[in-house]
Amino acid sequence: MSFTVAIDGPAAAGKGTISKAVAAHFGFAHLDTGLIYRATAARVIAGEDPVAAAQELRPEDLAREDLRTADVAQAASKVAVIPEVRAALVAFQRRFAAREEGAVLDGRDIGTVICPEAEVKLFVTASAEVRAERRYLELVAKDASVTRDQVLADVKARDARDTGRDTAPMVAAKDAVLIDTSEMQIAEAVTAAIAEVEKVRGS
Ligand code: CDP
Repeated sequence: MSFTVAIDGPAAAGKGTISKAVAAHFGFAHLDTGLIYRATAARVIAGEDPVAAAQELRPEDLAREDLRTADVAQAASKVAVIPEVRAALVAFQRRFAAREEGAVLDGRDIGTVICPEAEVKLFVTASAEVRAERRYLELVAKDASVTRDQVLADVKARDARDTGRDTAPMVAAKDAVLIDTSEMQIAEAVTAAIAEVEKVRGS
């Protein structure tokens, strides 16, 4: 029987790490839905029309190695504003959520739009400064020219676009449990998330 864990929240709040750990703990499949928007954006950067790129997206596009850059992140949040792009990606996400073995999906609108019936909903957040510092440390390891100020500005620009858009804005579902990781080690946040799933599913 399917069992869906929806994990939403802003950039670099810790959703990815928490989602992977929850999926591994319970034997669920995991889908990072940000990758779908990043892969669509990568095709747009290469010259495709955004809606066509979303409609023609293939699972292998999500395995591209160039999706984690700051440029692709900004482009992703721009294509994510387009209602037809979002509509084209709904069915793929819902099919994934219905997997027999259970599924964890992380993103911005999973608990509100994609899986409003999810058994567990978490909203993982942290202050913009803490999130920018985490993202800075990830990015600077690959590109020494990245600056803290630029990463903070990018995080804030993306937050504004993601919360301000008309279609599926980033917002905590009314029944989501909030996990603020500003002052938590990632291990504590993972423990808190697993505990929330166990409350519903048992251990
Ligand atoms: O990894 P990070 O948190 O920085 O971003 P991401 O989850 O890879 O998402 C990249 C962008 O895709 C976000 O800024 C959103 O604009 C968009 N996105 C979305 O609109 N809805 C989702 N379910 C997931 C991502």
